[in-house]
Amino acid sequence: MIQLEGINLHFSNKKTILEDLNLEIPQGAFCWLTGPSGAGKSTLLKMLHLEIKPASGRMEILGINPLKARRNLCARLRQRVSMIHQDYRLLSNLSIFDNVALPLRLQKIDKKIIQSNTNEILEWLNISHKQKAFPNTLSGGEQQRVAIARAVVHKPAILLADEPTNALDENQAFRLIDLFNDLNSIGSTVIVATHNETLIKNFPAPKLTIHDKQLWISDV
Ligand SMILES: Nc1ncnc2c1ncn2[C@@H]1O[C@H](COP(=O)(O)OP(=O)(O)OP(=O)(O)O)[C@@H](O)[C@H]1O
Ligand SMILES: [Mg+2]
Repeated sequence: MIQLEGINLHFSNKKTILEDLNLEIPQGAFCWLTGPSGAGKSTLLKMLHLEIKPASGRMEILGINPLKARRNLCARLRQRVSMIHQDYRLLSNLSIFDNVALPLRLQKIDKKIIQSNTNEILEWLNISHKQKAFPNTLSGGEQQRVAIARAVVHKPAILLADEPTNALDENQAFRLIDLFNDLNSIGSTVIVATHNETLIKNFPAPKLTIHDKQLWISDV
């Protein structure tokens, strides 16, 4: 469950990005997030990923109020909330395999399971042949698939995907939504920010739209 009440958010320049924003998403939901460029989609996702704090308002994510919770509780919450960043954010000094395995290593999972789960997702995303390479040697679409693999490998309770198909071809994009649907069917909440109306039309789901600093909800 994600609950936001009366959220106001601005950056240091004080320009308001989100104003009195309210949102309730039940656990296990799938929804699209749209809105014009600069509307605040990435900002909202980063706030849900606990990277940015609102100036005021109330937040509850998976039963925890991250604005009041102790640091170690927030750290554990963050392991359950995963984000595919618009700019990928791969760790340049780690190989592709190590980038993807990282969330499992942080959970101190058995090495054999780390090996098999990481291999499985790398293969599914057709990127396993690059597992020993480093991020700066990959194409944009390849880097995006690595970022996707890293975000889903540990089956997070919440997946925040920020324009996860913008460097992919249409076939890869459609397959990716199947992957998100699989994750969704085992109980993960999935929020996908996109400008891709074809994708939205092909996979109808509730649509959140940011417009004029506010959030509007509609069914597709
Ligand atoms: N760190 C920052 N400091 C100051 N302003 C910022 C910062 N990050 C984002 N902004 C501003 O916040 C607004 C919303 O940006 P955001 O990246 O959330 O938009 P978006 O909806 O994701 O756009 P796009 O579709 O282009 O990705 C923009 O006006 C942007 O310039
Ligand atoms: Mg964005």
